[in-house]
Amino acid sequence: MKSVSMQVCEDCGAELGELSCEPVCPVCGGLLDLTHPAPSRGAELRSVFADRRRAMRGVDASGVWRYRELVLPSATSDEVVTHPEGNTPLMDSRAVARWAGFARTDQLLVKHEGHNPTGSFKDRGMTVAITQAKRSGARAVACASTGNTSASLAAYAARAELPSLVFVPQGKVAAGKLAQTIAHGARTLFVRGGFDECLALARSASAELGIQLLNSVNPFRIEGQKTILFELLEQLGWDAPDWIALPAGNLGNTSAFGKALRDARAAGLIDRVPRLCAVQAEGAAPFARSFDHAFAERVTVKPETIATAIRIGAPASWNRAVRAIRETNGIVTSVSDAEILEAKAVIDAAGIGCEPASAASVAGVRKLVRSGAIRGGEQVVAVLTGHLLKDPDAVVAYHAARQPDRPHANPPIEIEPLVSEVERAMRG
Ligand code: F0G
Repeated sequence: MKSVSMQVCEDCGAELGELSCEPVCPVCGGLLDLTHPAPSRGAELRSVFADRRRAMRGVDASGVWRYRELVLPSATSDEVVTHPEGNTPLMDSRAVARWAGFARTDQLLVKHEGHNPTGSFKDRGMTVAITQAKRSGARAVACASTGNTSASLAAYAARAELPSLVFVPQGKVAAGKLAQTIAHGARTLFVRGGFDECLALARSASAELGIQLLNSVNPFRIEGQKTILFELLEQLGWDAPDWIALPAGNLGNTSAFGKALRDARAAGLIDRVPRLCAVQAEGAAPFARSFDHAFAERVTVKPETIATAIRIGAPASWNRAVRAIRETNGIVTSVSDAEILEAKAVIDAAGIGCEPASAASVAGVRKLVRSGAIRGGEQVVAVLTGHLLKDPDAVVAYHAARQPDRPHANPPIEIEPLVSEVERAMRG
């Protein structure tokens, strides 16, 4: 381990300085990974984190920068662009645990990343990527997105006073995400194509125009997203659960979780590694299909799903995610749109709420409980990646199309301003 942070190519091992702005390895085109000087060991590190959590001063108020030894140790407090982010709740729900098939409520906890400043986990990676973009002298920043990354990029770029450019699939971005992206001032391009075409275009356009690309192929994004796991492990007293489930699209987050567990283990923060469960939507499940054949080949599909956040057919962080699943003895599975929407309705009705893609994690957990892969006494943390308000249209459409065997909310009733009408509505 070097005494400074470095960027290292995952494929050929080429080394670049921490401030290098190459989007991929200049030698072989592989994805870059950050390595940091070895931090102090477990017990000491745990107490540093705990002290900062108690103090909540300056950048320590961020649930990302509190773990800076494992994220970007060289960044100074005045360089950090923070909202602040993180500090998301770990919650339980009797109704959700029961629906997923657990006997006890505490067997299923949800880590709600929708509580971040722009309403999704993307803020954790974005605070680091924008901080680094500033440090390395970026003129402008860009991303391709299904909506959440663009909302987050737009907000953090605005805070850093950097111009931002986003590439999103025309007609396939949920209303809340689009509103955020536009309101925070990004130059928004509606690309006639899906996310995969947006990313290909964003990669070549940003290279040609000298703009920094901040998709999760950017290693600084991955460093920030690792803190979802550091924070949830700390909330559990560093006593790891048996499983951690998450929705998977472009596979940046699956990769970040794998790396976080590797780091936590190496630093002696945990002594046992949970199994990862990555869940895709059935209509956008190239990674799940490949897992079924022991990752023998890289699969691509033409994606379609109601969970627009994970409507991705050619995930970019493939090799890193394969490593994450293999190292954790993990599972990749897929769930139908109907299962996603049912899980979402249960999570929403429990007063927790999330966007459709997020509910895939809980739907996937139910599937694995039913198949016996998740066993009787085991504990699972499912990550809810985005807020309910990201996609209000999905709520309206689901409850309007009432199906007898599905959980449904009370439909709104229009009334005259009369008590008698209120009574009638209550009886109905
Ligand atoms: N959940 C939500 C709410 C997301 O927005 C995304 C990805 C994922 C899960 C999957 O994470 O791509 O790292 O596997 N959204 C990206 C975006 C693609 O542009 O906002 P992943």
